[in-house]
Amino acid sequence: MLRRELTRGLAAAGLVLFCASGFAAGAKVELESADIDPGNVNSLQRGAGNFMNYCSGCHSAQYVRYSTIGKHLELSDEDMIENLMFNAEKTFETININMQAESAERWFGVQPPDLSLLARSRGADYIYSFLKGFYVDPDHPNGTNNTVLAGTAMPHVLWEKQGFQRAVFTEETIDGVTRSTFDRFEPYIPGELDAEAYDEFVRDTTNFLVYIAEPIRSERIQLGIWVMIYLLIFFIVALMLKKEIWKDVK
Ligand code: HEC
Repeated sequence: MLRRELTRGLAAAGLVLFCASGFAAGAKVELESADIDPGNVNSLQRGAGNFMNYCSGCHSAQYVRYSTIGKHLELSDEDMIENLMFNAEKTFETININMQAESAERWFGVQPPDLSLLARSRGADYIYSFLKGFYVDPDHPNGTNNTVLAGTAMPHVLWEKQGFQRAVFTEETIDGVTRSTFDRFEPYIPGELDAEAYDEFVRDTTNFLVYIAEPIRSERIQLGIWVMIYLLIFFIVALMLKKEIWKDVK
């Protein structure tokens, strides 16, 4: 008898856990494709400008040096000093922030993460969708919330560009459990950019974050091509050599 009760109890607990995980999965929104072009230097240059102007006040990118960015993005030292280097004086410096870790904790409750490698852990689509996912939410302390990272401490820093949007959720009750699923955005207060231009802005920024996560990507691809060419030539030489050697044996 006791054993039966216990099994039932366990089954119920399992069901609750299952539902809870189902709920969490249900709350996830589908990510939009970022559709970035890593080889587009103009897009990367614009992305670097966006990042330095709108993100570097809170986020560092400690693993990239300005000099590396300058080399890959075809920017001269003067270009960089004038347009990108707000927190640094020398091009060999990495992208740091002036904000103290304690102040960040006090203001946001969490420290804004370093963005050098974030694109690798989260992926381009995530960043793209996150930057497009802010919506007005009076229940949230800073007035906005995010569909991709619910309850995020990051404010909608690109509001001037995008304006503000509202999110529409549909609610569904299955077996007494109410699920709220994100349905769509609705425009609320327009910003400087229309929807298409904002997508471009966010795409360039995402492209830059993907680039800093692996700055040697393009070099690696190029090197790969040279290695393939070398192997091909080597194969032809080996083939000719084999023919030459086996000629007399036959
Ligand atoms: C006013 C400060 C501030 C600015 C400016 C800012 N962020 Fe953030 N950001 C934060 C904070 C705080 C978090 C941590 C959010 C959390 O964990 O809820 C964060 C988190 C993130 C995350 C990680 C989300 C995750 O899943 O962990 C990404 C990506 C990000 N920011 C990108 C950007 C980009 C790109 C910009 C520039 C367009 C930017 N941020 C500008 C404060 C800022």
